[in-house]
Amino acid sequence: MSIPGNIAQILRYASLAPSSHNTQPWRVKIISELEFIIQSDPKRWLLKVDPENREFLLSIGAFWENLEQAALTFGFKAKTEILATNSKNTDILKVKLVRCTPQKDNRLELIETRATNRRPYEKKDLLPLHVKELKRLLPDHFTYFSRESKEGEWIAKSLIEANKKQTFDDEKQKELARWLRFSRFEVKKRGDGITPEMLGVSGIAKFFWYTFMNGKSVLSWSFRNKGVENVKNQVNNCAGFIVITSDDLSVSSLLHAGKVFERLALKCTERGIAVHPMSQLIEESPWKVQIEELLGLSKPVQFVLRVGYSTFQPKPSIQRPIEEFTDLR
Ligand SMILES: Cc1cc2nc3c(=O)[nH]c(=O)nc-3n(C[C@H](O)[C@H](O)[C@H](O)COP(=O)(O)O)c2cc1C
Repeated sequence: MSIPGNIAQILRYASLAPSSHNTQPWRVKIISELEFIIQSDPKRWLLKVDPENREFLLSIGAFWENLEQAALTFGFKAKTEILATNSKNTDILKVKLVRCTPQKDNRLELIETRATNRRPYEKKDLLPLHVKELKRLLPDHFTYFSRESKEGEWIAKSLIEANKKQTFDDEKQKELARWLRFSRFEVKKRGDGITPEMLGVSGIAKFFWYTFMNGKSVLSWSFRNKGVENVKNQVNNCAGFIVITSDDLSVSSLLHAGKVFERLALKCTERGIAVHPMSQLIEESPWKVQIEELLGLSKPVQFVLRVGYSTFQPKPSIQRPIEEFTDLR
């Protein structure tokens, strides 16, 4: 099966979407030149940290948003039907591209440059103008807590504790180890997972990582403690946290939460605001059952995003070529 170059490009841009542990948990079944089904790839599910496939659906939602945005540039509107009725179904979305006037703007550039920034940020609060602009993208599902607020303080303190708990859970740590890349050969061969560059590891530490470390190192006391130290540094160096909620926990609501998350991340890229999803408060007990009440939110929380101004622009993460997630050869 082959498809025109512009359609292949749309799929490539879609696949630059963020996904938890950079699992890229999507497959695309090509039905015809302008029609495909976005499917789930169970080999890429994170059964330990994401047993309900909540984050899986958020990641597919981000893929959907990129697909829709890129399609507009190439002169197509993406008409989409949600096929999945539960998070473990294979077929998630059916997409049909319909011709429209191409949009000429910077959206492809934003999709290509957006990247999770795990470095420390400036502590300066977000400008009210920027908060207002971001909220407008998802008015009913957006709350910003500055780092200085009492909620911001609770998020920061709890993220350290929740990370500590997750880091010392061997099963979750082993799952993470499978997605961390310890050799440049593996990075090139697989095109997925997390590299030291993506974690902000550089210089001698990066040399050490690629030369001496492996999956077993992730279970060592020093690796786990270094991770918790990094989280402390991260939450103490930011403007605050954006919390994204969904209407409920249905497949459709989770896909839409992933979609608006990516829309927000692209706008942040445009405005020089760094974004870092920190999911442990939604993954670990007791925080995951307390979070809505303690933050005064009436809807389920889907993302806790550390945000702030940063002049550092991380390189885009590693991604698989489209032949790896489609039946195109
Ligand atoms: C649903 C979801 C949850 C995520 N949770 C975390 C997290 O807890 N910690 C983290 O460092 N990154 C998290 N990320 C960011 C991913 O690790 C990142 O998107 C992925 O590695 C690809 O890198 P990129 O965003 O730079 O393209 C999350 C992303 C998504 C979509």
